[in-house]
Amino acid sequence: MQLNRILIASITLLIISTSSLFSQTTSVPSEAKNKTAPFLFTPETIKTGEQIFNANCKSCHGDPGKANYAKLNPIPKDPASPEYQKNSDGEMFYILSNGRGLMPNFVNTLNEAQRWQVISYIRSFNKSYKQPPIKSTGEVVKTETAKMILAFDKSEKKVFATITDSVAGLRKPLPDITIKLFVKRTFGSLLVAEASTGKEGIAYFNTPADIPGDSLGFLSLIAKTQGNSKELISTLNEKLGVVTKPKNLLDQRAWWNVNKMAPVWLIISYLFGVVGIGITVVYILLQLRKIKKINDSAT
Ligand code: HEC
Repeated sequence: MQLNRILIASITLLIISTSSLFSQTTSVPSEAKNKTAPFLFTPETIKTGEQIFNANCKSCHGDPGKANYAKLNPIPKDPASPEYQKNSDGEMFYILSNGRGLMPNFVNTLNEAQRWQVISYIRSFNKSYKQPPIKSTGEVVKTETAKMILAFDKSEKKVFATITDSVAGLRKPLPDITIKLFVKRTFGSLLVAEASTGKEGIAYFNTPADIPGDSLGFLSLIAKTQGNSKELISTLNEKLGVVTKPKNLLDQRAWWNVNKMAPVWLIISYLFGVVGIGITVVYILLQLRKIKKINDSAT
C-alpha cells in the first residue's frame, strides 16, 4: 500500500517535470538571431516563397492577413500579425530549421535558399520591414544546380576552381564562396590551401611547391566548399608534387633484411628472451610431471 503510493507520487512527479520541459518555448541563440539572408529579397524570391508557403506552411498558418490558421495549441499565428513579424529574419530561419512545438523542422524538406525565400514572402506582408544588410557568414547557400570545377592553369601554374550556378539556362558565377583544397593521402586527406571565389566565381589556390607526389609527381587534389548545406566537391589529378620514389622495404634495417643486418645487441637480447621462455616452459612441464607421479603413487 505504502509502496504503491510512493510509486504513484514519483510517476506523477516525473510526468509533470518532463511535460514542463517540453512546453518550454525554445529560445533562439543570439548568434542565430542576427543571421541574415544571403541574398536580397526581390519580387522573384517573394513569388517563389509564396509557392513554398502554400505547399508547406498554409495548412497550419493559413493565409497571411486572414487569421485563418489551424486551431492548435499554442496557435500557429497569422504570418502577417505584428507578434509574428517581430521575429528577426534570423529567428524565423532558426524556427524553420529547428521546428517549434507542434511545428516540424524543415531542414530536409526545404534547402537554405528556399527557407529564405519563404521568409521573403512572409516579410512582403510587413509594410515597415526593411531588409538588414547582408552579412557574409562564410556559409554557402547552394542550389541543386550549382557546380564546381577544379582545373590547372598551365601559364599561371596555379590550381583554380570555378563555381557557377544555372540561372534561367545561363551559368552565373557565384562569388564569396570559401573553398578548401586537400591532397589525398593514404589515410584521409591533408588540407593544403584555402581560397574564396571572386566576382567571376573563380578561386586561385597558392599550393605549396614541396608536396610529395607519386613516382611521377602526380597529386590527387580534392576541393570542397565550406558550409553546412550540400557541399560541392571536385577532384583533379595533376603533376604538381615532388617526384617521390616508393619506399623499398629492403632499404631499411629490418629482421628480414639481408643487406643491412639488425644490430648485434638486438639479436642477442632477442635470443636471450626466446631461450629464457623455452627453459621456463620445459621447467613447468617437468614440475607437472612430478605432480602427476606423486598423485599416481598416492592412489
Ligand atoms: C503542423 C503545423 C505547422 C506547419 C506546417 C508550419 N507551422 Fe509554423 N508554427 C506552428 C505552430 C503550432 C507554431 C507555434 C509554436 C509555438 O509557439 O510553440 C508555429 C510558429 C511559427 C513561427 C514562430 C512565430 C512566433 O513568433 O510564435 C514561425 C516563424 C513559423 N511558424 C513559420 C512557419 C513557416 C515559414 C512554415 C512553412 C515552411 C511553417 N511555419 C509551417 C505550426 C506549423
